[in-house]
Amino acid sequence: MKQFLTQDALKSYLQNKGGSIGFVPTMGALHEGHLALIKAAKAQCEQVVCSIFVNPTQFNDPSDFEKYPKTLANDIKLLTETGCDIVYTPEVDDLYPSGMKNLPHYPLGRLEELLEGAHRPGHFQGVCVVVDRLLQAVQPSHLYMGQKDFQQIAIIRKMLEITKSNVNLIECPTVRESSGLAMSSRNSRLSAEQKTQALAIFQGFNSPSAAAFESALVANGFETVDYVACCDPITLENKPWDERPCQILVAAFIGGVRLIDNQFMP
Ligand code: PAF
Repeated sequence: MKQFLTQDALKSYLQNKGGSIGFVPTMGALHEGHLALIKAAKAQCEQVVCSIFVNPTQFNDPSDFEKYPKTLANDIKLLTETGCDIVYTPEVDDLYPSGMKNLPHYPLGRLEELLEGAHRPGHFQGVCVVVDRLLQAVQPSHLYMGQKDFQQIAIIRKMLEITKSNVNLIECPTVRESSGLAMSSRNSRLSAEQKTQALAIFQGFNSPSAAAFESALVANGFETVDYVACCDPITLENKPWDERPCQILVAAFIGGVRLIDNQFMP
């Protein structure tokens, strides 16, 4: 696997390669969920590029940014074993050469006011800026993203529309531990007991009401529930709890760690 630290070096290397490029943007601390994206890209594309960059502009909570797990040596080992061709590991200056103020603004509309948008102001603008810049650097034919970040996929779909990008956005299913817990880099900040308590999320999707789901989360040690919502899977607008089909989305804190998950209810 080749590693590049700058987009100039990455671009000139890729220029001489023909064929399809599958791109998996990540913030590192890789787990099976990320590796499933690499495998999906490998199955469809001639070159697979992964980026590892903890993007400062998408963190609305400075302590979440500081505590974000960093495991670069292990990430590179996992990517090599999974058959990734190229890893791009830039420093902040490479993606933000003019600094992190006065960044472009994407007219995302309602999508960024709902759910994560309401609880993490500015988060999706930061995601759009960095993904747009990463796409300029990599120029992939296919972009792979995981459904655990369900709203992020909807936002990126909208951003691709706004920027008139013709990249193929490929959504891949959430990868879960055998217990049902959705894989997340933030899980590494949970104790064994908190990981067990966190199963209340997976077990809660079939709750009779949003209030029952929230109470079960609190009863299992979650200190704050940001939202439990039944939504239209496309617009993410709220729907009555028992309407089907719908997407149930949840965000809650346990041990100071914010977890998100979602499930399609046919
Ligand atoms: O999902 C993530 O890890 C990040 O939001 C992404 C897409 C890599 C942008 O920084």
